[in-house]
Amino acid sequence: MAILVTGGLGYIGSHTVVELLNNNYEVVIVDDLSNSEKFILKNIEEITGKKPVFYPFDLKRKELLAQVFDAHPIDGCINFAASKAVGESQLKPVDYYENNLFSLINILQEFKQRGISNFIFSSSCTVYGQADQMPIDENTPLKMPESVYGKTKQMGEEILTDFAKAYHRKVSLLRYFNPIGAHPSAKIGELPIGIPNNLVPYVMQTAAGVREKLSIWGDDYPTEDGTAVRDYIYVVDLAKAHVAALKKLMEDESNVATIDIFNLGTGKGSSVLEVVKAFETANDVKVPYQICDRREGDITIAFANVDKAKEELQWKSDTSLEEALKTVWEWQKYLKNRNT
Ligand code: UFG
Repeated sequence: MAILVTGGLGYIGSHTVVELLNNNYEVVIVDDLSNSEKFILKNIEEITGKKPVFYPFDLKRKELLAQVFDAHPIDGCINFAASKAVGESQLKPVDYYENNLFSLINILQEFKQRGISNFIFSSSCTVYGQADQMPIDENTPLKMPESVYGKTKQMGEEILTDFAKAYHRKVSLLRYFNPIGAHPSAKIGELPIGIPNNLVPYVMQTAAGVREKLSIWGDDYPTEDGTAVRDYIYVVDLAKAHVAALKKLMEDESNVATIDIFNLGTGKGSSVLEVVKAFETANDVKVPYQICDRREGDITIAFANVDKAKEELQWKSDTSLEEALKTVWEWQKYLKNRNT
């Protein structure tokens, strides 16, 4: 049996492929390389000593997708393939809806017709908006996301819920908090394309001198040091949660709909300034920064209640912020060597 991993050469996808291969799953990757690079495949092979099957195409190509299902005994899917830049999604809403939802629907058509179950979806804590209470558990009411990107995640969850109910299939909706870090081998990590939007890639490039200064978006939030608080989860821990969620679905032999929802975070909030300080301490480098106005659309605080994942998946993230940030710096050094 094989697991289809869409977006398997992307940031979280590649780390999950490594964990699946380490757990002896057969892996079939479909990735159109729109936000990833081919050398990641080679590096996955170096890390694991195993060779996943790889198809480079866009999931909107239904006929090519059908051929993949014809060629491999697909028993489940982990769907990472999606556009994910919040700002860009506001400027290109139609492209985001097309890319993120058509690809999902095309896979579900194959699942429906071929009687396949076991679907894991990359969702996001963005579905909660600014929650009224911390920590955020899975019963926290959802709010209409501010961005088109966030809406595609919420719609994806709804589509999958309806799919599971109507056809008695099993789905797991994984709501990620803020993934950071790279593999300990420093062979895979988050590829910076253009100017990073997210905090940790920007910090990494500032420490490396690629960017002059980090802009901290606001120090007047009602938090301890005035900067916004998030739950930063180490990407390898996050990848392991996917394997645990998949095992749970596959072990469930009932023929009823299963809709699992899990918050994946550490349970601990860290402020922007804490992240900057932790990066400096962990790597003995300086990160010059300036305080700027708030960024539009940002929330004040978000961190997860992770009890449900602990109980039902026997999973928790135990990598500290500093340990995770060390891997970021090793990854930066790897990228620098690659480019010189
Ligand atoms: N930040 C800065 N300077 C930067 C970048 C970020 O101060 O250069 C701050 C942000 O204002 C925020 C925190 O660092 O307070 C984290 O920002 P990120 O952009 O790294 O992460 P977000 O929490 O804004 O975004 C994450 C995911 C998105 C998702 C969003 C939903 O990356 O995919 O959560 O809330 F949509």
